[in-house]
Amino acid sequence: MSTPRNAAWNALSTLPQQTLAQLFAADADRVAKLTGTLEVGEGSMLFDWSKTHLSDALLDGFEALAEASDFAEMRRRLFAGEVVNPTENRAAEHSALRGVGKDASVEEAAALRARMALLVDAIHDGALGEVKHLIHIGIGGSALGPALAVDALAREFAKVDVHVVSNIDGVALEDAFRACDPATTLVAVASKTFTTIETMTNAASALAWLEDNGVPDPLGRVIALTAYPEKAVEWGVDETRVLPFAESVGGRYSLWSSIGFPVAVAIGSAEFEEMLAGAAIMDLHFRDTDGRANLALRAAFADQYYTRLKGCQTRAVFCYDQRLALLPDYLQQLEMESNGKSVTADGEAVDFSTSPITWGGVGTDAQHAVFQLLHQGTNLVPVDFIACIAPGDDLDPAHHRILLTNCFAQGAALMAGGNMSADGQDPARAFPGDRPSATILLDDLDPTTLGALIAFHEHRTFANAVLMGINPFDQFGVELGKVMANRIEKGGESFDASTEALLKAAGLAG
Ligand code: F6P
Repeated sequence: MSTPRNAAWNALSTLPQQTLAQLFAADADRVAKLTGTLEVGEGSMLFDWSKTHLSDALLDGFEALAEASDFAEMRRRLFAGEVVNPTENRAAEHSALRGVGKDASVEEAAALRARMALLVDAIHDGALGEVKHLIHIGIGGSALGPALAVDALAREFAKVDVHVVSNIDGVALEDAFRACDPATTLVAVASKTFTTIETMTNAASALAWLEDNGVPDPLGRVIALTAYPEKAVEWGVDETRVLPFAESVGGRYSLWSSIGFPVAVAIGSAEFEEMLAGAAIMDLHFRDTDGRANLALRAAFADQYYTRLKGCQTRAVFCYDQRLALLPDYLQQLEMESNGKSVTADGEAVDFSTSPITWGGVGTDAQHAVFQLLHQGTNLVPVDFIACIAPGDDLDPAHHRILLTNCFAQGAALMAGGNMSADGQDPARAFPGDRPSATILLDDLDPTTLGALIAFHEHRTFANAVLMGINPFDQFGVELGKVMANRIEKGGESFDASTEALLKAAGLAG
């Protein structure tokens, strides 16, 4: 179909392309032009996109694509709390939780947050008795953000020892039970809908565990985090321990709401606020910056270039920081559940690749496992490196120095290529080079920079969706599997021959 967006795409897709070596040779200012710095709290964050193939001409083309995609208007709607999720007729108000959004939503979120802070502070002050452990039960967006933030920020100084349990596999919950003393444990049940089978089954088992271990008033140890408070009350949680959030906050964007309760319990309410403040700095940058200077939009330009023009099916994220080990998992849901779509927001089938598969790991571990393919494999994989200038450890500075030099070496080697043999001719030792990467360098990892880093990825995901014309805020793709699981669980009907045979082999056939 001929639309302004398609016309803009067609125009940019025929632009001449250059190698990274050519791009660097032609422009002495390339690094400065494609590196943005954002002041965040006490430090800054640097976003170096110079080792991607974005040229001045391509950037012009992508800016034209953004204009043809009504990017400014879509972004205005996002921050105004207007409908940006047409299939569910909903706004997407995660930024309002951080103080950037529609006034009424910002006010409502602040009031809910103040209520959560009262409870968190009361817990820290001993109002619920001695609390040493918190078992946080949730799945998807109700678990991945809390798990990431707790792991990143509360390794050493956690006020309360938090265990995030998501899987229905009882092994996961039993692991948490083994690590906790029931007498000093609280249970948070986190579910936007308060109906998700994994979460409700785990919650019931956690309640039984408290009861079986002689904890008086087990329900009194439960805190519910949900957009449907009435369902939590119906389940038995006292209203005073139900922490609601707005329905207009999507599950995978909900870390900033009461779903972040375990983070506040682990690091403190004031520090949780700092995480939101860091995200708000990124919100304002994203809201108020146009064109290529907008860091998340520029990253989306490169994402679109690799996925749609170069046919890359995956993108990889390597954190050269152990504290960010869970970031790739978090980004998988954020990006793949948001943009893994085959139709546009208007319901038209797309004729291009939408979300790449997000994957990754930590450096330097990944170098000794998967980097072979990145350097010499046949798949072109755009890579993001994320690292911090300040070390997270107190050991010999050699640790952090080697970590960072390895990180920068990988980006340099991917780009430069070469041949490792003495005569430079051995094909097995040849590196093609010209492989792209981007680097995000944080001064330090703290609640503020983590908040900004996550918000950057939320906005990058949104920007990608707008450039493609798809709706990033629904997730019907996960529904069919859920419906099928319920039907199988219920029994009384037959399925395909393979599924029937598997059910029989597992002793589950009716
Ligand atoms: O099944 C996908 C999903 O709906 C995610 O989008 C969501 O984060 C997760 O399930 C958990 O949902 P809830 O918070 O309602 O339990």
